[in-house]
Amino acid sequence: MQETVKLIVGDQTIELPVIVGTEGERAIDITKLRDQTGMITYDPSLGNTGVCRSEITFIDGEKGILRYRGIPIEQFADHPNFVEVAWMLIFGRLPKPDELARFSSLLTANELLHEGLKHQFDHIPPDAPPMAILSATLNNLSFYHEQFLSPQDEESFELAAARLISKVRTIAAFSYRRSLGLPFIYPDPNLRYCANFLHMMFSIPFQQYIVTPEIEDALNLVFVLHADHEQNCSTSTVRTVGSARANLFASCAAGVCALWGPLHGGANVEVIDMLERIHQGGMSPEDCIRAAKDKSNPFRLFGFGHRVYKNYDPRAKLLKASCDKVLAKLRRQDPLLDIARKLEEAALNDPYFVERKLYPNVDFYSGILLRAMGIPTNMFTVCFAIGRLPGWIAQWREQHVDASTRILRPRQVYTGPAESPYVPMEDR
Ligand code: CMC
Repeated sequence: MQETVKLIVGDQTIELPVIVGTEGERAIDITKLRDQTGMITYDPSLGNTGVCRSEITFIDGEKGILRYRGIPIEQFADHPNFVEVAWMLIFGRLPKPDELARFSSLLTANELLHEGLKHQFDHIPPDAPPMAILSATLNNLSFYHEQFLSPQDEESFELAAARLISKVRTIAAFSYRRSLGLPFIYPDPNLRYCANFLHMMFSIPFQQYIVTPEIEDALNLVFVLHADHEQNCSTSTVRTVGSARANLFASCAAGVCALWGPLHGGANVEVIDMLERIHQGGMSPEDCIRAAKDKSNPFRLFGFGHRVYKNYDPRAKLLKASCDKVLAKLRRQDPLLDIARKLEEAALNDPYFVERKLYPNVDFYSGILLRAMGIPTNMFTVCFAIGRLPGWIAQWREQHVDASTRILRPRQVYTGPAESPYVPMEDR
């Protein structure tokens, strides 16, 4: 029997249906609320509002669970394969060997940028923020590639997805090379996805960068762990833009802009800046914790806290373990890892963080891992974006194949002046 909840508005009682998700998550369906009562709900940062039904990612924030298409994230960690996860997120199931091979070939076939797009880099100042370059260049893909595609046509959508997932890595590497005034390194069709990205970042014309299996695995892990996270800020942005039927490139470019913010993907940069400051003696871990707790100070303990997780973020756990593994393998020590560990311990024993259930999130350890690979801080959020792209594409597609999708258009409670007359200039 359909579960309902009763809502009493004045002398009227209405019954609202309850929607139940696969894992028993319950939501009150208020789609008829305004029609029936004239009222809307008020939920400013959408902390209690489900905006869609989705089959892609499941999170239980209380228990610290994250699953892609039902598979626990930990099960991808031993042999992380970003390309496989990307396909699975977009098309709903693990690919068969021939499907994965076909998608890999499509990635290879699409790794170059149109020469016109490549020349645009000549006009970008060398110190331009890489996230601005990424967003602009993703958007500019519509100059050169078909914009309107049918999400229902799996073959053409696979091509569009491959185009984006492949080119984003070339764009990212080219923007890094541009910032250093180094020549662009073209992709090498013989390399796998992550190795190819590192090759384009770090090879020089007379010396090929050779990636070790540990680094290739670690980068795959970083990308896999960032690949989707249901209705986060950037994904909601992609869905909002997509709901107006804007094309996939434009929608993902908007996602990059949202991700750039320091409360979202930009937090991985803030974490390293914070750890560096502590390392250089500019601030002690205690100062850092004190500043984060001080409500008159806008500072936050970056890499801590999450809207959904009220437990240890499972991605942070895997990234922390990978930091230890990679640094040991490289026989390298990073003082920032020790500082991060101490900071984590201090925060997890501080009543402020305990009471608010603030734990390390994905951004707390990812930067240390990216640093170990030689990736500079200003490229961290770009790496987050490369990882998140399959999630954005999957969510955009899911939204478009759902015939019931309408343009996303929230309402508001108006609190401005009541009706007032226009006052002519001479009377003001
Ligand atoms: N440092 C200090 N206090 C915090 C922090 C933090 N990192 N995070 C939350 N709080 C406090 C917050 O001030 C509030 O306190 P009070 O109840 O006294 O007003 C309480 O904890 C609840 O936090 P909130 O602001 O309601 O949480 P939110 O869901 O609106 O924000 C967040 C989530 C991730 C933006 C926030 O935790 C934060 O700013 N964290 C630091 C930035 C960060 O690491 N972002 C990456 C998020 S994970 C990856 C991603 O999505 O990109």
